[in-house]
Amino acid sequence: MQTINMHYAELKDSYLFYNIAQKTKAYLEEHPGTHLYRMGIGDVSLPLCDAVIKALHEAVEDQAHKDSFHGYMPECGAPFLREAIAKYYGERGVALSSEEVFVSSGASDELGDILDLFDRSSTSLVIEPAYPAYVDANVMAGRKIVHLSSGEENGFLPLPDENTKADLLYICSPNNPTGAVFRKEQLQAWVDYANKTGAVILFDAAYEAFIEDPELPHSIFELPGARTCAIEICSLSKTAGFTGTRLGYTVIPKELERCGMNLNAMWVRNRTTKTNGVSYIIQKGGAAVFTPEGQRQIHENIRIYKNNAACLMSALDECGIQYFGGKNAPYIWMKCPEGMTSWELFDYLLHEIQVVGTPGEGFGACGEGYFRFSTFGSPEDTKEAARRIKTLFSEEAH
Ligand code: MLT
Repeated sequence: MQTINMHYAELKDSYLFYNIAQKTKAYLEEHPGTHLYRMGIGDVSLPLCDAVIKALHEAVEDQAHKDSFHGYMPECGAPFLREAIAKYYGERGVALSSEEVFVSSGASDELGDILDLFDRSSTSLVIEPAYPAYVDANVMAGRKIVHLSSGEENGFLPLPDENTKADLLYICSPNNPTGAVFRKEQLQAWVDYANKTGAVILFDAAYEAFIEDPELPHSIFELPGARTCAIEICSLSKTAGFTGTRLGYTVIPKELERCGMNLNAMWVRNRTTKTNGVSYIIQKGGAAVFTPEGQRQIHENIRIYKNNAACLMSALDECGIQYFGGKNAPYIWMKCPEGMTSWELFDYLLHEIQVVGTPGEGFGACGEGYFRFSTFGSPEDTKEAARRIKTLFSEEAH
């Protein structure tokens, strides 16, 4: 009898960011006391904004008194937060009912959990280079994966064609790792494809708050037809610095049906069975993000990360190194110098200038030859990392 999920044996030895953490740990053990300039994993460096901190403190105080104490929270999310998120969409012209918003403990958890809604025989299409958890979660679940490569020829934004065949479509826009963002008419092609074939889009909108260009869509629900074919998964990790606090949300429209089943109702059934909701305190902190004060403050932090991006991009420009992203997304996707693989570049930057980035190969085979910088580091570290990159590559050119 087979008791173990043998699909785990098909996974790479370790998860990308775990791998990087192990390599940097080994470097630090060999070079104790060295300061590293960490631009690998997209982990934020700025603290939570004042509006959130105030709401968290108040919520802790609520838990200290009989009259304001909260026990179990509603499994799909506190009404106050579901309403605040629905209002946030409404302000951007996307009408949602609060019952279409599910509060989660973060997008990465949800991207794996949501697979419960789909049959194991369904095929998942992953546009690569991609956030590696899409692939790993599907491998663990034993699903067939179609890897759709993207590259410079299509601006890392491939469109469906007559050969595209899949039941679940992972789309991340703004994209991690390339920073590319689908324009409305491009995204519409995926929405039309999904409605025509019965596929479901899993739209990862974790980086929507970084979009600067007013023409670009923040949500897939800005597009006609998306309500019958898409689920949107979002997170406050990058938008509001919740990487360690954990909070996200998922939008499942009531019209989304497949095989006579309603996916919103299925997710209610799933959540009420599998979770006891996100903590009251964290949801209160999350609701503060959607107040006018919270929005103003989180955008001040986003501005700081955007300055980091500008600083790195200017260093790469000065060195004549080609890159993508950085404008509407918090990632810079640079080309590796001629003849260097992305893991070789990782080792080179770590050993020569103590800068940590993420090798493109970790995002799929077509990411080889590229390297990702996260712009979530501290401004001081990013400035110094940019200076070191400039010195290293200009020395090399001579
Ligand atoms: C990344 O660096 O790609 C992300 O921070 C990873 C994540 O959100 O889990």
